[in-house]
Amino acid sequence: MSREELLRASADPIESAEETTLRPRSLDDFVGQPRLVEHLQIMLSAAKQRGQSVDHILFAGPPGLGKTSLSGIVAVEMGVSLRITSGPALERAGDLAAILTNLDDGDVLFIDEVHRLPRAVEEVLYPAMEDFQLDIVIGKGPSARSIRLDLPRFTLVGATTRTGLITGPLRDRFGFVARLDFYTPEELVSILTRAAGILGVPLEPPAALECARRSRGTPRIANRLLKRVRDYAEVRGDGTVTLEVAQQALALFEVDELGLDKVDRAILHALCVTFAGQPVGLGTLAASLAEEPDTLEDVYEPFLLKQGLLQRTPRGRIATPAGYAHLGLQPPASRPSEPGLFG
Ligand SMILES: Nc1ncnc2c1ncn2[C@@H]1O[C@H](COP(=O)(O)OP(=O)(O)OP(=O)(O)O)[C@@H](O)[C@H]1O
Ligand SMILES: [Mg+2]
Repeated sequence: MSREELLRASADPIESAEETTLRPRSLDDFVGQPRLVEHLQIMLSAAKQRGQSVDHILFAGPPGLGKTSLSGIVAVEMGVSLRITSGPALERAGDLAAILTNLDDGDVLFIDEVHRLPRAVEEVLYPAMEDFQLDIVIGKGPSARSIRLDLPRFTLVGATTRTGLITGPLRDRFGFVARLDFYTPEELVSILTRAAGILGVPLEPPAALECARRSRGTPRIANRLLKRVRDYAEVRGDGTVTLEVAQQALALFEVDELGLDKVDRAILHALCVTFAGQPVGLGTLAASLAEEPDTLEDVYEPFLLKQGLLQRTPRGRIATPAGYAHLGLQPPASRPSEPGLFG
């Protein structure tokens, strides 16, 4: 089991139950991603009008932006059942075959972390996606025969945090590759207001905006911050989340003005100070922070890149001038000639 899976497995069950409660159930509940939602609406309506299943869809983007939520929404909007599995859970071709043969016409099969499907399993998926056929080999050695089964016309919905790791043949078999982008503070305010309503948290509008601005453009983080400021408001205040309460709570939880947390700041600090502005390879950076390279690349880097705080160069990662400024440091280029060396 990878560290990532361990982390997921040990995740607080109450927290994940609340995540399920807060998950948008229909396209109307789903905030933001306007172009993607419009495209999806057209695809779903057209399929419904023709009485067909929807084409296969791939949702790609950083964690917590709504990929799993959208896959559920596709099934709800189409009025079909949803089967959920994930790339690493499908170890053998037979695991996938068993799921595929148990689907009904129109069903949505959701494969999370589809970039982690073993090669042999992925190959079973190609004819299944394209021709709704399954090739299975019965027996072993010279007496082995291959038979072909017809499958129901299902819809495969894949989710990935890494489009780069999806093989070409797999990507080409999706009718729609939808990329999710970070959310604007205004969109996050709507998400927070909805979540506060569901959880029964009195959240004042300026406090909602403050949490939204510090959520790294990510609904999951927005919801998590809401729960933490709610705790703070209940213990240190009268339960109402005012701007002041939100600011105090976020300061206590070390979420800064841009929404960067301790690890984000440690990354910038390593680039600016530990490695003194030299380009740093992903592995070296990860090792210096005791993090997994995958976690750095999937979870932390996208937002730092988006904010223009970090840059990827062919020789490695560097902090941008904005990255230095965020830590209150001067970038090396504009630094006056090294004091102490000659003076
Ligand atoms: N557009 C949205 N509107 C409202 N809430 C949202 C939206 N997107 C995500 N959320 C909230 O964020 C939480 C996380 O979303 P979701 O699990 O769908 O993300 P994900 O992209 O699948 O993440 P991961 O890559 O980690 O699996 C959901 O439980 C939901 O509460
Ligand atoms: Mg998910």
